Amino acid sequence: MNVCFTLNNAPTELDVGPGERLVDVLRARGYMGTKYGCGTGECGACVVLLDGEPVNSCLVLAPRVEGKEVITIEGVGSPLQPHILQEEFSKAGAVQCGYCTPGMILSSLALLARNPNPTREDVLRALDGNLCRCTGYVKVVDAILSAAARMRERKES
Ligand code: FES
Ligand code: FES
Repeated sequence: MNVCFTLNNAPTELDVGPGERLVDVLRARGYMGTKYGCGTGECGACVVLLDGEPVNSCLVLAPRVEGKEVITIEGVGSPLQPHILQEEFSKAGAVQCGYCTPGMILSSLALLARNPNPTREDVLRALDGNLCRCTGYVKVVDAILSAAARMRERKES
């Protein structure tokens, strides 16, 4: 069946099976930044934004994105033009193996869109579904708070 949606701001039409999961569809089309971890909604490695909200794409059937907007990490920044969040993750040493990072960045983006001035607790709550086995979260939260401050400054200037 065909599914029409917006993928990283581009109108997209894909032929998908009725039981295919969004994570598999994306990765098969080269969007490898969407990571596959547990496959059961526990780790957040596969998070994408669906109409601006973070979802575990391993739990979303591809036909469900019909008419919706999907953002993957490939739609957030690039090596040459990283997003402020990506710059701050890098600066803070918040990326170790990097497997959780795309999901962390997308969950953080959604948080900062609804709350540009979060507390540490707000950030930890927003990352509740994103597991990281490497960093211990402190540097991740530092990075997100620094990015939030820079994004507020940029908006005010
Ligand atoms: S792979 Fe989707 S939540 Fe773990
Ligand atoms: S940096 Fe390795 S799992 Fe988070």
